[in-house]
Amino acid sequence: MERLTSPARLMIVSDLDHTMVDHHDPENLSLLRFNSLWEHAYRHDSLLVFSTGRSPTLYKELRKEKPLLTPDVTIMSVGTEITYGNSMVPDHGWVDALNHKWDLGVVKEETGKFSELTLQAETEQRPHKVSFYVDKSKAQEVAKELSQRLEKRGLDVKIIYSGGMDLDILPQGAGKGQALAYLLKKLKSEGKLPVNTLACGDSGNDAELFSIPDVYGVMVSNAQEELLKWHAENAKDNPKVIHAKERCAGGIIQAIGEFKLGPNLSPRDVSDFLECKVENVNPGHEVVKFFLFYERWRRGEVENSEAYAASLKASCQPGGVFVHPSGAEKSLIDTIGELRKHHGDKQGKKFRVWVDQVLATETAPGTWMVKLDKWEQSGDERIGCTTTVKFTAKEGEGLVWEHVEQTWSEESKLKDDSSWII
Ligand code: GLC
Ligand code: MG
Repeated sequence: MERLTSPARLMIVSDLDHTMVDHHDPENLSLLRFNSLWEHAYRHDSLLVFSTGRSPTLYKELRKEKPLLTPDVTIMSVGTEITYGNSMVPDHGWVDALNHKWDLGVVKEETGKFSELTLQAETEQRPHKVSFYVDKSKAQEVAKELSQRLEKRGLDVKIIYSGGMDLDILPQGAGKGQALAYLLKKLKSEGKLPVNTLACGDSGNDAELFSIPDVYGVMVSNAQEELLKWHAENAKDNPKVIHAKERCAGGIIQAIGEFKLGPNLSPRDVSDFLECKVENVNPGHEVVKFFLFYERWRRGEVENSEAYAASLKASCQPGGVFVHPSGAEKSLIDTIGELRKHHGDKQGKKFRVWVDQVLATETAPGTWMVKLDKWEQSGDERIGCTTTVKFTAKEGEGLVWEHVEQTWSEESKLKDDSSWII
């Protein structure tokens, strides 16, 4: 969070399964639309927070399966674990606060007496979260009985039912809502309370997110029955919470627009980039658009025209160098020129490109260094490169690409890299 020196313009706090991630969309289109919007318009001055019921183990698995961006803050295990940054540094202060009237041994002992409860996988049992599956028809009754028994044993717990099947038991002070309130308080104490916060969710464990004061909320169109019921009973008159018409990440984009929280046109929804050339003054935008163009080029979704090739070459510095992740140095213009022969080579194939953590720094007046992670999914293989691009602003020409350098991401090192272009 130290990345930002002033309050975030927007902080998005989003659930993952069936909210950011649409498990019914094998192409991940709405997620990819959100990703390019975020990197294009928000990454530099806003905060992305993922708030999931998953444990760190299952969260990391999801990151491998889906094209998820890297969040600034990761809240896992239904608001019982908070970590910061890429290296996921845990917030120990938060954990300490959760020990109040909580005893894992007692929770396990009491829940063991209910035959209706089926324990979830071992990875999902956490120091401040005990999770089961329970039939929809039994959920309410079991939760009521259990909460009375635990109270008698001196505990103060919260029982949450999600997705019509999951039952989580947490300390009373835990949960996604409390974790968000804690985060907001922390940011406020640093003088960095976000200008706007948008909470996004689809199921029971997200309900709390929508009762935090001054926070906008979106329940995606595909929200679960238990969340819609909670909303009807508790937050129906709150104009800051909407039920979107669009599914998953599409609903998040819709909410950004409806609440007027900032730009809501994803670069993926723009079909012709040559047309928006004039506004190109931000080097971060340049990179997002280039790699999107690159995806469309190889998928054969843009015309193989001289105009595109010429426009790309014109934005490269003559003599500019490209350092391929293999270490080979090439001419930047030649590399772009080579793209011509790859037009449509991924047509009809599973091929997607996305960028993550695009950050631009002005190193001298008119000179910019943009750092980002570029990812390429081809069939079931995913490879990524840390990329730096040096740009200079040239009078009348806009931004010119001067130097591009790439190095393999940790997980891509051992893969076959011979087909990587840029
Ligand atoms: C995730 C977790 C699970 C939890 C559920 C609802 O699926 O893996 O343990 O019960 O979210 O919070
Ligand atoms: Mg969910």
